[in-house]
Amino acid sequence: MRKVRVGVIGVGRMGRHHARAYAHFNYLCDFVGVYDVDPQASAAVAEKFEVQAFSRVEDLLEQVDAVTIATPTCFHYDLAEQALLRNIHVLVEKPVCRTVDEARRLAELARQQGCVVQVGHIERFNPAVRELAKVVKRHRVVAVETRRMGPFDPRVKDLDVIQDMMVHDIDILRYLLQAEFEDMTTKAQRVKSSLFADHAVCAATLSNGVVATLTASRVTEQKIRKLTVICDGAYIEMDYIDRRLTLSRDTRVRYENNGKTVSTLENVGERIFVPDEEPLLAQTQHFLECVRTGRTPLVTVEDGLAALEVVERMQAQVYKQAVPSLNGVAV
Ligand SMILES: NC(=O)c1ccc[n+]([C@@H]2O[C@H](COP(=O)([O-])OP(=O)(O)OC[C@H]3O[C@@H](n4cnc5c(N)ncnc54)[C@H](O)[C@@H]3O)[C@@H](O)[C@H]2O)c1
Repeated sequence: MRKVRVGVIGVGRMGRHHARAYAHFNYLCDFVGVYDVDPQASAAVAEKFEVQAFSRVEDLLEQVDAVTIATPTCFHYDLAEQALLRNIHVLVEKPVCRTVDEARRLAELARQQGCVVQVGHIERFNPAVRELAKVVKRHRVVAVETRRMGPFDPRVKDLDVIQDMMVHDIDILRYLLQAEFEDMTTKAQRVKSSLFADHAVCAATLSNGVVATLTASRVTEQKIRKLTVICDGAYIEMDYIDRRLTLSRDTRVRYENNGKTVSTLENVGERIFVPDEEPLLAQTQHFLECVRTGRTPLVTVEDGLAALEVVERMQAQVYKQAVPSLNGVAV
């Protein structure tokens, strides 16, 4: 099978990693080149990976079968549309688009063109999440708690903390629990920016009855990425960063001597093995396989859209006016 010709549009912090991943999979793809509105950024990445730096996005699109779009989110729709209209497959960073309306149009266009559109909800490729998905299937889940926090990043100018950070956990909960967000209450605060919420908390009920509490914050010094699953008889903790997965569960083990109980074990803690894999490489490899075989990606544009719909419902509870007229609206 011919190698997939690929390119990267937007080579800032994330785009550079996507470029590295394509260079890594040189046996699956031909990494043709990059385009960035900042010519210095394109030149530096092109030089590092010995590919072409394009000065026009159209020229890059002429020469590839698939692209990654890793620009600020407000440009995702227009760039993805340009690619899809040329029948080019797209790996678009999360969140899929700036608005639900754009994401709906993108989903429709992807269907019309018959192209692969994968959304960069990279946590799905975290090996700890994959192992957690197996464990969760064996338990009756009662509640989940997610905490995603870190310092303020001044580069994120166009999104609030719900759309930038909590969207990861929304996607993971939909995936892990195979359920949709139903009723919810969201509270938020502006801290670092004048327009956007920097700290948000949501309590939601999912369609399978599970109660979820999500916290996302970009005001803490410490970087925290944790998910806790409370099950009937078990307590599971996962750390996305160090990929640690632990389970503590009820047990009824009795140690007896001459028919008399000498001790009882009420609880056992297990550390579940998590393979050492880099999520970005796994995500890129999966995208290339989907392009080569026509398989449906693990994270479809419809998944990106569904997560964004939840984001917009939360935002509607937080802002005086709903997105997309977010600009100029106070929390
Ligand atoms: N999956 C994740 O965990 C994760 C983490 C961080 C960021 N992101 C997403 O990745 C995307 C990029 O974020 P980042 O942190 O890399 O931002 P960044 O600001 O570091 O990089 C963006 C790059 O895009 C370029 N650019 C801007 N407009 C462009 C255009 N119209 N055409 C081509 N290039 C353009 C900029 O010059 C810059 O080099 C965002 O959608 C963000 O939400 C995802």
